[in-house]
Amino acid sequence: MTTREENDLMTLVEGDAPMGRMIRENYWMPFGVSTQLVAHAEPMKVRLLGQNYVAFRDTKGKIGFFDEACPHRSASLALARNEGDGLRCIFHGWKFSAEGKCVEVPSQANKHDEFCAKVPLRHYPVVDGGGILWVWLGKAVAPKFPELPFVNNPKADLFMTVSVSDCNWLQGVEGTVDSVHVQTLHQSWVIQHMKRVGGTIGMSMDALPRYEVAHTDYGLRAAALRARKDGTTYARVTEYFMPYVCLVPGRDKENGVLFMAVPIDNRKHLLFFGQWSETEKIVPSERLVLLPGASYDPHNMVKLRGNRDNNYGQDRNLIAAGHFTGFAQNIVEEDVVVQVSMGPIVDRTKEFLSETDVAIVQMRRSLLKSLREFEAGRLPLGSALADKAMSPPIPVDTLLQPGMNWEDFSYDQAAA
Ligand code: FES
Ligand SMILES: [Fe+2]
Repeated sequence: MTTREENDLMTLVEGDAPMGRMIRENYWMPFGVSTQLVAHAEPMKVRLLGQNYVAFRDTKGKIGFFDEACPHRSASLALARNEGDGLRCIFHGWKFSAEGKCVEVPSQANKHDEFCAKVPLRHYPVVDGGGILWVWLGKAVAPKFPELPFVNNPKADLFMTVSVSDCNWLQGVEGTVDSVHVQTLHQSWVIQHMKRVGGTIGMSMDALPRYEVAHTDYGLRAAALRARKDGTTYARVTEYFMPYVCLVPGRDKENGVLFMAVPIDNRKHLLFFGQWSETEKIVPSERLVLLPGASYDPHNMVKLRGNRDNNYGQDRNLIAAGHFTGFAQNIVEEDVVVQVSMGPIVDRTKEFLSETDVAIVQMRRSLLKSLREFEAGRLPLGSALADKAMSPPIPVDTLLQPGMNWEDFSYDQAAA
C-alpha cells in the first residue's frame, strides 16, 4: 500500500524535491534523439526536472548544452542564432561555444578576453550515444557512461523515438515495467506483429505467465514465465535500470526494445521508445505495424488526437471493426493514452493491486530505498557515480530447460 507521503516522494521532481535531486546528481538524463540536433541548425529547448535548458550542435558536430537563460541578462538562448561555431544571443550578441566558453562580447572593448573568461555560463556534458542524447546535470564530474547494449554497438541498427507525455514520469516507468498489460492493451498490435514475423515464440502469449522479480545493484529484473507442456519454461525478462531505463526483450539476443520515461517536470515526461537489431535493418513502419497511410515522426511519436473531453480521439469505429483499443496510430499511443487518462499525477493511495503487479511494487521499493540511501549521503541503486560501472545485461527471451532457474540464465553463459 502506497502512502500519500511515498507517492509525493516518488513522483515530485521540481525544486528541492528529493527525487529530483537524486536523479540530477546520480544519473545521465536522456533529453532527445540524436537526429533532433542538426549541425548549424536552430537550438533545441530542453526542460528536465522543472529547469529550462538549451542545446545545439556546431558545424563540427560538438553539442553545447546550457541553461536557457543567457548569463548576461537572462534572455532565452532558445532564441539565439546558431552561427556554426557557437550560439549568439540575439539581445546583445554575446556568443558561446559548444565547449561552454563565452567567446565574444561585442560591446566589451576593455579587456575583452579577460571579461569573456569570467562570464559564468552554466554548461553541461553531453553524450550522443545509441541514437539518444544524454546530459549530465550533476555537480560531480561527469562519470563514465553506462554500458547499454545498444550504445557503442557497431552491429546494431537503431530506431529511436521520443514523445512528450502529459503525465508524471513514474506513470511512464510503471507502464514499461508492467509487462502484464501487453497481452491486453496491445493485443491487436501483438496479433498483427505475429502475422508479420510468422509467429515466433518471441511474442507467444498463449499461456498465462507467472511473474517473478529479482533485485540487483542497478535496479530490478522482472520475469514473465510461461510453463510449457514439454517441461520447458518460456522466459521473458525485462531489465529495469534505475531510475527510468527499461530494456524489454526482443525475440532473441540480437534484438531489443528500449523504453525510458524521463521527468520534464512534475506533470510531464519525455517518453522514449526505441528498438535495436543486430540481425536486420529496422524498417520502422513494419516494426510499428502502422495502419495503412499512417505516418510517424520519431521526434514527436505520439500526438494524441484529443484530450479527456473526447477520450483522446479514441476511434470506436475501429473497435467495432475488431481493434481492441481504438488507438492504432502506433503501439506507444496506447501506452500514453492509458497513462495520461490516470490524471497528471495519479493518486496511488487509491489503487487496488493484484499479485501480477509484483514488478511495479518492487520497482517502487527500489526507488524508495534509493531515496533513503541518497538522503543518508550514500549512492542510490544504479548510480553512475559508483566505482563499479553498473549496467543491465541484454534482456532475455528464451526457452529454459526443465529445472533451470531464470535468474541463472544469461546470454553470455549460454554462449560460453
Ligand atoms: S541577454 Fe544575452 S547578450 Fe544580453
Ligand atoms: Fe505498453
